[in-house]
Amino acid sequence: MNTMTKPVLLTGLRANNDLHIGNYFGALLPLIDMARTRSAEYQINLFVPDLHSFTTPIDHSQLQAQIIHNLRLFAAAGLPLDDPGIHIYRQSYISAHSELAWIFDCFTGFGEMSRMTQFKDKSARLSDDRVSVGLFNYPVLMAADILLYGASYVPVGDDQSQHLEFTRDIAERLNNQFGELFVVPKPVKDQHDFFGKDQGLRIKDLIDPSKKMSKSDESGKGIIFLGDDPETAAKKIMGATTDSIGVVHYDPAAQPGISNLLTIHALLSGETIQAVADHHDGDTSYGDLKKEVAEQVKDFLTDFKAKLMSVNDEQLTAKLEADEAAMNQVANQMLLRVQQAVGLRPKAV
Ligand code: TYM
Repeated sequence: MNTMTKPVLLTGLRANNDLHIGNYFGALLPLIDMARTRSAEYQINLFVPDLHSFTTPIDHSQLQAQIIHNLRLFAAAGLPLDDPGIHIYRQSYISAHSELAWIFDCFTGFGEMSRMTQFKDKSARLSDDRVSVGLFNYPVLMAADILLYGASYVPVGDDQSQHLEFTRDIAERLNNQFGELFVVPKPVKDQHDFFGKDQGLRIKDLIDPSKKMSKSDESGKGIIFLGDDPETAAKKIMGATTDSIGVVHYDPAAQPGISNLLTIHALLSGETIQAVADHHDGDTSYGDLKKEVAEQVKDFLTDFKAKLMSVNDEQLTAKLEADEAAMNQVANQMLLRVQQAVGLRPKAV
């Protein structure tokens, strides 16, 4: 089983673009909050799934800089770099991820992958020749990312819940066939309870609030990136799509744009959505609500920019390299157990 002694909390954020506030509040912050407060009880892994970054076409000349930028964002978001209980790494520097993914591929059904809603959504937006096999089976690599380290808790936004369920399925499938190999991550509901109020959320695109805010989206107008100039980001909020009802209610189905602004407001102020929704319920000026959220976004990004400027790059690189060496050992041990189980290596005597 897991070679580490403490329960593992793990998450990854792709580097196909700058991270946005959905990534920040959906996945990064819950893990960093845990890292700050509970690293004595948990092993914390935060990694850049760089191999996942080009499941849809990207500008490859930007990828290397983007990977480093995202690692710096982790530090700017408050990840303690001097804590030995916290690990940061790049997926492609640990080849066990790819090797385990191949083994999992052979235990995964075509139908199972075809049912993944994220694949259906993303592939629908691309022409057939741009829909890669990598996009199709990326949840398999994601399962390897999680199961190699025996992670029990994986904070992710709502769009990744189905992939997490698949991870549980494949872990149980191999455990049933080969004996207890993997720690099965907790069910999504337990994860939400564990990480608290912001879990499982889905921040919507500002221009088209019927879809999630997504960094794969090329126009960028409906997205608040962590690296956005604060004034530009405030303008994006002012330009957010609302509705013609004219009265503020938190009602994601009938008023998705307004409800999204209330959600962003709540996340930025640290209040619950309920509290913010109650406070604004019945207001008749969408403009005033937008101005309030725009100011909050501006303050948040100004502060974040200052934190980004003060990241210690030398300390970050040293930690990254040391952690990658350590994680290679952990991951290779797990991979060997799987290779032995499936008959690729002789069993230990
Ligand atoms: P990625 O890189 O698309 O997104 C990173 C994290 O941000 C969350 N997220 C959101 N949360 C709320 N609202 C949004 N609009 C929003 N958009 C994105 C995502 O749910 C995710 O948690 N497959 C993963 C990366 C990955 C991973 C892993 C995660 C690869 N291996 C292992 C956890 C464990 C992905 O593409 O996330």
